Amino acid sequence: MTKCLICKTSIEPFLSLRKMPIANGFLHPDQFTGEYFYDLAIGFCSTCYMVQLINHVDREKMFHDQYAFFSSTSAHMAAHFKAFADEMKTRYLKGKADPFVAEIGSNDGIFLQHMSHGGIRHLGIEPSGNVAQVAREKGVHTISEFFDEQLAKKIRAKHGPADLFIGANVMCHIPYLHSVMAGIAHLLAEDGRLVFEDPYLGDIIEKTSYDQIYDEHAFYFSVSSMEYLVEQHGLRVVDAQPQSVHGGSMRYTIAHKGAVRVSDRVKNQKKKEKDLGLNRKETYNRFRRHVEASRERLTDLLGQLKQKGASVVGYGATSKSTTVLNYCRIGPDLLSCIYDTTPIKIGTYTPGMHIPVRDYKEFSDKYPDYAVLFAWNHKEEILKKEKQFSRQGGKFIVYISRVRVEN
Ligand code: SAH
Ligand code: TMP
Ligand code: ZN
Repeated sequence: MTKCLICKTSIEPFLSLRKMPIANGFLHPDQFTGEYFYDLAIGFCSTCYMVQLINHVDREKMFHDQYAFFSSTSAHMAAHFKAFADEMKTRYLKGKADPFVAEIGSNDGIFLQHMSHGGIRHLGIEPSGNVAQVAREKGVHTISEFFDEQLAKKIRAKHGPADLFIGANVMCHIPYLHSVMAGIAHLLAEDGRLVFEDPYLGDIIEKTSYDQIYDEHAFYFSVSSMEYLVEQHGLRVVDAQPQSVHGGSMRYTIAHKGAVRVSDRVKNQKKKEKDLGLNRKETYNRFRRHVEASRERLTDLLGQLKQKGASVVGYGATSKSTTVLNYCRIGPDLLSCIYDTTPIKIGTYTPGMHIPVRDYKEFSDKYPDYAVLFAWNHKEEILKKEKQFSRQGGKFIVYISRVRVEN
């Protein structure tokens, strides 16, 4: 029996996605033997409503000096973080004498560069050494450590309280979330705000985006489960704002209990979650059936295309694609390669299924008949860039929310 990481009661597994490799573990042929695999499975806690992984991969296996995800590879995300930083400055930092902003999982400095350029005192906490180094080169103060309660105490002793504590696509990565929340409660100034965003459970369920399930995503948050968690640390969810990025995210604003009025949006969102059935086990069983049907449709489609002799590739060697490829058993026989923009991924092979990753610039050298869009959350940006592919008759295959060939 597995215990809930948040409330310690037992959780109910609802979907098992087979043996999985590390989602961002792109590798070279000499590493194929000895590749690490674990059982990917997900469960629901009917006490605190937290959806979570059943098994966890050691953090050092995921976040290290060869980490493959660089936030700034997407121009759309860069614009998102610029707008996010501008909003935070106006709302919470204006008029404050010498404010201090800390960010967890600051990666290559995509957010904090706007604080650094504005002359605002800041600190990035980013354990993956290679991406942290890129941030430092941009003038972003960064320490390469894992954030937890102990580190929070050290940061407060050195820099004083934080007026603003930011996180994007990182809170959901951390199984020891109680330690993180206790640390933030300790570090946050009396009138400070914790503002963070993560993929939203409601969107995952509605869109059957099972590809959000992988080793790094230990949790799948909702406003209801977040409320349960933070209240144990004297904190309160004071706002919840849906975001379109990463296929549907939620931005949570959290403050010390009693410090700030709670927005009506929190109550409204919790009502929506109830209507969606996020508090009921049946919802997750239905999700499992949708996932299984999606796998069947995608593998059927790729099998038919192969029989017809069509050329099919992948577009975007995302961490999400690792789940799809391994769960659906899609290998180089069905997809000859995957094109991507990330230098550290180019020339490697995908985790588990070992499909070669090629430079996206070679995509136009010989257009395939079809390209499976694994970076579906960057669809607009990619379609704009690859207009010529579509113009000359190429077709994208999309599998979210349902499997289809785009016309
Ligand atoms: N915020 C960026 C990066 C998200 S990827 C964005 O939204 O694009 C998640 C990042 O969190 C990785 O760079 C990883 O190294 C970092 N991370 C993982 N565990 C962490 C921890 N305990 N403390 C701080 N950062 C962590
Ligand atoms: P993400 O979905 O986790 O943000 O990862 C995006 C991946 O897709 C990353 O490996 C870079 C790749 N990508 C492209 O290849 N082309 C693009 O235009 C964009 C935006 C991303
Ligand atoms: Zn629980």
